[in-house]
Amino acid sequence: MYYHRHPTEHPNPADPKKKTVVILGSGWASTSFLKSIDTDLYNVVVVSPRNYFLFTPLLPSCTVGTIDVRSLVEPIRFITRHKENEVKVYEAECTEIDSEKKVITIVDNSEVKGDNATSTIPYDYLVIGVGAQSQTFGIKGVEEYGCFLKEVWDAQKIRTKLMDCIETAAFPGQSPEEIERLLHMVVVGGGPTGIEYAAELHDFLVEDLTHWYPELAGKIKITLVEAMPNVLPAFSKQLIDYTESTFKQQNIHLHTKTMVKEVKEKEIIVQGPDGNKESMPYGLLVWATGNTSRPLVKNLMAQYPETQNIRRGLAVDDWLRMAGTNDIYALGDATATKYAPTAQVAAQQGKYLARVFAQLHATERYEALVEESATPEEKAKNMRRLQKAQDIKPFHYSHQGSLCYIGSDKAIADLPFGPGNLASGGVATYAFWRSAYISNLFSARNKWLVITDWTKKTFWGRDISRE
Ligand code: FAD
Ligand code: NAI
Repeated sequence: MYYHRHPTEHPNPADPKKKTVVILGSGWASTSFLKSIDTDLYNVVVVSPRNYFLFTPLLPSCTVGTIDVRSLVEPIRFITRHKENEVKVYEAECTEIDSEKKVITIVDNSEVKGDNATSTIPYDYLVIGVGAQSQTFGIKGVEEYGCFLKEVWDAQKIRTKLMDCIETAAFPGQSPEEIERLLHMVVVGGGPTGIEYAAELHDFLVEDLTHWYPELAGKIKITLVEAMPNVLPAFSKQLIDYTESTFKQQNIHLHTKTMVKEVKEKEIIVQGPDGNKESMPYGLLVWATGNTSRPLVKNLMAQYPETQNIRRGLAVDDWLRMAGTNDIYALGDATATKYAPTAQVAAQQGKYLARVFAQLHATERYEALVEESATPEEKAKNMRRLQKAQDIKPFHYSHQGSLCYIGSDKAIADLPFGPGNLASGGVATYAFWRSAYISNLFSARNKWLVITDWTKKTFWGRDISRE
């Protein structure tokens, strides 16, 4: 949609009369807020350690080369350059929030650093959309030996390590036990991330690796370990059953009611339903057991022990204002709300918060006009306007449905339908899954690239080169 508009060539510079909103992050929540915030009303500054937006729903496809990571990202400056007024973008990590002085500290954590790699930025309003990080539950060895699946570099690391395992298994003189270990791909966590990754890996094995490594492909084993009795607890029972039976047909080994207790370099220690611990040798370990708060968020919460006591993330009110503060707002996976930590929620919150900011601005304006009113009539008129501006509706989430890819060109969908749900799974649902994601991709360029990647894969298969 943005390609139809020309970039603003000479955006108006920051105006000292306007309040400054500093946005942390360039993910679903912050990007959605940034798209909608009116820069006529506020000076806007964006701080994020990555200078792009990432379309996470298709990230599992990047781990095996179905889609190229470049097809899912769009620079954040792509949005800011179309704004009427200048938006400052700093590729940096916010490491500290001083809510008393209303100043944040930012650090350039990228590989290339200039003489100055630390700075501070003052704010009038702070919008925290820093997301969450992968949860390990403090299990020993996960950080060191497991691969997460959250960011572009995670997908790249998985792809590289996967091919390394396979090529190492092909190395001359490898013992049968070592080959078996190297070709054992273990996924921990039966939430949508773990399921979609296992599904992509299965497709890669069946559609590509079988042809490239005929002598090894039959020995590649995929195992998914889940602590609960079933995978995908957020989906309808029939879709859970459908996924589990599809995985069985695909020869993906499901170990439910099984907890990972420790991760070592070449084996994981799991505790099965019978309570016994056993060793599971592995070549590649993908760890997908959900989210936990980032250190920045944890530190901020520690400053507000009375109001910030939900471990899952920042407590916010129905208007997304951080509990215990007046000028800090938070949204997306960084928060602990009644909603699941999904892109859908984050994007809707971002759009909503931009409306809240428009009303906050209007409130201040009418407050001043009420003060300045020369006549009782004018004052009454401005009072009515002020009351309207102050009537900010609380955030309301509209669920559009849940989708998940389960392999072999099959997907599942739980869609809201009247007062209930419409649950569907199979090849037709996969066609719907594809069209839903294509229509939600960020830009026309992304849509084109993803369709091209899918087409390339259909004709030539996936690339097995190790990056
Ligand atoms: P993110 O999108 O994670 O963005 C956080 C941003 O903050 C990033 O730009 C990050 O670089 C930045 N940041 C981090 N630390 C700092 C700091 N200290 N200072 C400044 N910036 C910082 N949800 C769905 O609804 N549907 C799906 O199909 C779906 N698929 C998914 C697939 C995968 C593999 C994953 C991992 C998640 C998926 N999700 C899906 C969940 C969805 O991606 C998240 O809920 C969503 O990304 C949350 O948005 P967010 O903006 O809060 O966080
Ligand atoms: P999740 O929290 O949904 O699932 C994690 C799973 O790991 C749980 O089922 C849990 O029981 C299991 N687990 C935890 N510790 C374990 C252990 N030690 N051993 C074995 N299993 C263990 O996490 P996920 O999949 O990363 O998703 C995070 C969020 O992103 C969710 O809100 C999800 O809905 C969303 N998402 C949505 C997608 C979609 O809609 N297609 C795709 C990916 C993510």
